[in-house]
Amino acid sequence: MSRIERPQWRLRTKSTLYCLRMLPDSSGLVLDHWGEPTEVPPWPDTEPAPVFALPADVLPLEYASNGQRAVSFSELLVDRGAGNTGAIWTVLPNEVRWTSEATGDLLVVPLRDETGDLRLELTYSTSQKHDVIRRRAALRNDGASPVELRRAFSAAWNLPLGQHVRVDYLAGAWAREFQPRSVELDWGTFSVGSRQGVTGLHFSPVVTVTATPEPDFGPPDGRGYGIALAWSGSWRLQVENAAVGKHARVSCGLDEDTTVITLPPDGTFTSPDSLGLFSPDGPEGVTRGWHDFQRAELTRDTSPAARPVVYNSWYATEFDVRVDHQRQLADIAADIGAEVFVVDDGWFAGRTSDRAGLGDWRTDPEKFPHGLGELAGHVLQKGMRFGLWVEPECVNPNSDLFRRHPDWIYHSADRPAKTIRNQYVLDLGREEVVTWVEDTIRKVLSSVPITYLKWDMNRPISDGGRSGDPRGREWSLQHTRNYYRVLETIRREFPHVTVEACASGGGRIDNAVLERSDIVWTSDNVGPLDRLVIQDGFLHAYPSWVMSSWVSDDPGHRDRRQTSLGYRFAVAMSGVLGIGGDLLAWSDSDRKAAAKMVAIYKDIRTVVLYGESTLHGAPEDGLYCIEFTGPDSDPRTVLFVYDRDHARGKQPRVFPKALRLDIAYRVNDSDEIVTAASPGVAVPFVLAPDADVLVLTPVPH
Ligand code: DGJ
Repeated sequence: MSRIERPQWRLRTKSTLYCLRMLPDSSGLVLDHWGEPTEVPPWPDTEPAPVFALPADVLPLEYASNGQRAVSFSELLVDRGAGNTGAIWTVLPNEVRWTSEATGDLLVVPLRDETGDLRLELTYSTSQKHDVIRRRAALRNDGASPVELRRAFSAAWNLPLGQHVRVDYLAGAWAREFQPRSVELDWGTFSVGSRQGVTGLHFSPVVTVTATPEPDFGPPDGRGYGIALAWSGSWRLQVENAAVGKHARVSCGLDEDTTVITLPPDGTFTSPDSLGLFSPDGPEGVTRGWHDFQRAELTRDTSPAARPVVYNSWYATEFDVRVDHQRQLADIAADIGAEVFVVDDGWFAGRTSDRAGLGDWRTDPEKFPHGLGELAGHVLQKGMRFGLWVEPECVNPNSDLFRRHPDWIYHSADRPAKTIRNQYVLDLGREEVVTWVEDTIRKVLSSVPITYLKWDMNRPISDGGRSGDPRGREWSLQHTRNYYRVLETIRREFPHVTVEACASGGGRIDNAVLERSDIVWTSDNVGPLDRLVIQDGFLHAYPSWVMSSWVSDDPGHRDRRQTSLGYRFAVAMSGVLGIGGDLLAWSDSDRKAAAKMVAIYKDIRTVVLYGESTLHGAPEDGLYCIEFTGPDSDPRTVLFVYDRDHARGKQPRVFPKALRLDIAYRVNDSDEIVTAASPGVAVPFVLAPDADVLVLTPVPH
């Protein structure tokens, strides 16, 4: 068969190559190569004849359809209501769109099913700025009858790593999100996901897969693949090392337990994007690859202006919000150096606890007799910005909104509606509800000069769907798209507003949220020892410049041990620094020390926010360090060092991993000069006895 009849497409990223081509019978696409640009020959056209399986079961198919395969997993499950399921596809070579530009490549491959009714489009795009490949699948029903998609994943990624792989992932629960975990996979399937209509506190939609040498599952061999799903509703991501085939395969997309998509005649469906990247430098390289991508493509602006030093009064007051008290807190926050003052939950009508008021987005006249403008004016006059908390997707049964619109919530007609945290979830899939949310946010943002919005969502969705509406089975898709719609509206109409995304802590964090918000609240756990573990996990897949972190009074959920104020600052300073303590209860000396540390942060934050982070060990180790390598415009290196156990016998050393080779650095203001060849840097523990911040400034060499 000639080359023209069987085209191969070579997608280039900043430093890798992804090659795919059409199968000889045009029934789909197979991966030829994914790795360094110079690597390895293509997958063989014909695998050895599979035993008790179809040829398609062993091929590295780019997107498999039930009906085409019988033994291995398929990303697509079509149901025409005809008593069997599946579809067989043929590539439409004349309709392929392929553009290869200096900035990046785009490939769109259309396929038609055997009935002629369904059209599938597989889209790939790359950029020369990073190594991520973006993929999605789209379907259109050109037939006269509706078709159901019982599973319509976004993509499959074939990883040429052999039969034994290690999967690194992020797991957790409320107050302990983003815990790094690993499994070793030989034969079988490993699956993580969410059925709850939000990304979830329990798993993050991202994995790193590396090869492990047989037979003892030793450390990874170097090559690493990162796969993520950019989606904030129900989702599933699985890694399969099948009994047939030679490659590990990662498939991901909308969760099929909770999502059935109906394609009416002329109906279309486009999946969320799946993201994949290769690094020859194992898991650390994969982390750098994600950060590169997030910097280049997701973040609208990494500058301090979009991520100011926050003071948030939640832990100081909870629901006991009173204008005079807030003014007092604002006075101290301004003295310490906060740049924005945020009133959290509790500012709106009737919100005296989490049992009432949610949904009634007007200022509580008892708490703010002269309106919110009085506090906002005071905050502005103190030289800070003013910010507010909202949770527009939920409603308390005890609220005017619910009394007016009891039908707006997710519920099943014949089952009692269920509260979690005393609240229901609004059905954002309904046009009148999402329009109400948009109008409400517009009103709130126009009422007083607000330039910071914390968007919360404090429960999973139960009884999603709409009784009697078959499209109700797409509730998670509809809800999530409309959540994005509102975030995009805010960004378009109020571009000066910094948006902090939150869901009971880190319950809705993923690459899609990063694309539409400025910073994210990773956890309600502000205990510094716990928090460091959470942030370490977070930084494996997400970047420092979105990682909101507060110095607070809460000793933590598990780490009841005391740490110094310096330690607590050093934890929060490795991301977007905030303060969340009851400042009125802080001593004068603590306030002075805090002001000094905020000033240190402001001096080094260009390195923390624009730079690249490298993790040294794990927080549970005696000595743990986060190294930030500044951008070209500020080539300093900053090392945050944590000694949680005070375990050092003598002055310990840290060993920077990412110093520039041709540069010598001065350590803080001392006479000590180090280079990449030096035997580490001694940690003087000047900031605190259990933590330090070392600033390495380039000097003429
Ligand atoms: C959960 C958030 O994670 C907290 O920071 C706080 O905003 C509360 N909700 C308020 O109800």
